[in-house]
Amino acid sequence: MIEDIINISREAGKIIRENFGKTHSIEFKTNELNLVTETDKASEKLITDFIRKKYPLHGILAEEGSESNKNSEFKWVVDPLDGTTNFTLGLPIFSVSIGVERNGETIAGVVYDVNRDIIYSAEKGSGAFANGEKIFVSKNENIGHSMIVTGFPYNIRENPDKAFERFVAVCKASRAVRRLGSAAIDFCYVANGVFDGFWEVQLHPWDICAGKLIVEEAGGIVTDFDNKPVNIFSKRILASNGKVHNRMVEVLNNS
Ligand code: IPD
Ligand code: CA
Ligand code: CA
Repeated sequence: MIEDIINISREAGKIIRENFGKTHSIEFKTNELNLVTETDKASEKLITDFIRKKYPLHGILAEEGSESNKNSEFKWVVDPLDGTTNFTLGLPIFSVSIGVERNGETIAGVVYDVNRDIIYSAEKGSGAFANGEKIFVSKNENIGHSMIVTGFPYNIRENPDKAFERFVAVCKASRAVRRLGSAAIDFCYVANGVFDGFWEVQLHPWDICAGKLIVEEAGGIVTDFDNKPVNIFSKRILASNGKVHNRMVEVLNNS
């Protein structure tokens, strides 16, 4: 199955790449910050048509509205274009993210970094890979020497769940904080050791599903801000190399 997920991610990425830099028909979703384009929809259609044809009994949960076979043993959790704002404005940081759950546990995940042409992939228990090469989280134990990444939800103007205070606190505690605009890529840069940690509030299942498994299979951990286990529906996500995790929990809670 992982080969199928990789191949369809690449095909979706091809559609996205072909449309990058062109003029888009942009629609607003929940508010004027939350965009969707015809490319998000075309990518989702390609992926969900494939799943329905090859795995007709499998469930689908995809960002732009595709949902089917809710009670199936297998569920494909799909973000057809993660980083839509970057995509529409010409910033080449966006991805395709596909995770597959079996009875509620993620068993496979793929994030395709479209512009760098890197497939990040993981299967439960088998490690994490970037274009077939094994990847590992960083070894840094010192939060003061850490580079951390975050993102903001589309209702950021309302400062949901103390998002601004947490941002300030991590800026003060770390060496550097980055905000890339694609949560799936944020997870992968924790998995490959570039970032020591990633936190965000109010992510969605399709932002989390593949990336969480890739971090875990690269040796990292993913919890909420109280060090408790999370699932794809959790609203507070902290992913790290494991070594700065407890300090990150403290910082996020003392903001
Ligand atoms: C968004 C990106 C962004 C994150 C937002 C997400 P989208 O996904 O992952 O980095 O900060 O919370 O909603 O809308 O581009 O698929
Ligand atoms: Ca997303
Ligand atoms: Ca998306």
